Amino acid sequence: MTLKIMNKKYIIAPSIVSADYLRLAEDIRACETAGADWLHLDVMDGHFVPNLTFGPFLVETFKRATNLPLDVHLMIEQPERYLEAFAKAGASHLTVHVETCPHLHRTLQQIKSLGCAAGVTLNPGTPVSAIEPVLHLADLVLVMSVNPGFSGQVFLAETASKVEQIRKKLDQINSSAWLEVDGGITPETLPVMKNAGANAFVSASAVFKYPQGIASGIKALRMSLPGA
Ligand code: DX5
Ligand code: ZN
Repeated sequence: MTLKIMNKKYIIAPSIVSADYLRLAEDIRACETAGADWLHLDVMDGHFVPNLTFGPFLVETFKRATNLPLDVHLMIEQPERYLEAFAKAGASHLTVHVETCPHLHRTLQQIKSLGCAAGVTLNPGTPVSAIEPVLHLADLVLVMSVNPGFSGQVFLAETASKVEQIRKKLDQINSSAWLEVDGGITPETLPVMKNAGANAFVSASAVFKYPQGIASGIKALRMSLPGA
């Protein structure tokens, strides 16, 4: 499955983790109206990361609330146990952490067989070499620019060099996989990652906690992409 379906050069993916859960439908609508491309859903299990969020049940609820592709980021141990449930719930992309997958090759194939785009991601402390053998299978590669678990953390600038390395490797194998970044992405840090070769940008705080509101937050991110 290819993710180039939307023919977009750059993707802005608000992470719903920082939305107001008492006004979820309104917040999602605000993202759509402001031109968000995907909705990023952070699934956390309290084991792999020190925080808990939600599972397939809420993903299915999001699916009913929006037509935006659901970009599901699984920060959970043994993700292969839940892939089918997330696919059935309406996930468009399922991204797993290399740190949680001893059989990463098989897991990515499993995601594809479920009809979802297969994503792989790595923590700031994990080297690019850990995902290199499966890059040809990935529809999406996510570089974590914070240690996963919480929104509102400070961007780790040293992760830009990983984006550069992965961009080179993807180009070498003629892969059109999205190269996504997640953590501390703001109108100031987004251009750093774009210049390093990223083309999909996740942001929670800089959208949902933007002082002038969600629409202005998305607009500010978009404006930081010259020519996009
Ligand atoms: C990291 C999550 C992110 C995160 C982003 O734990 O995967 O999606 O919540 O939050 P911000 O954009 O506030 O750093
Ligand atoms: Zn995420």
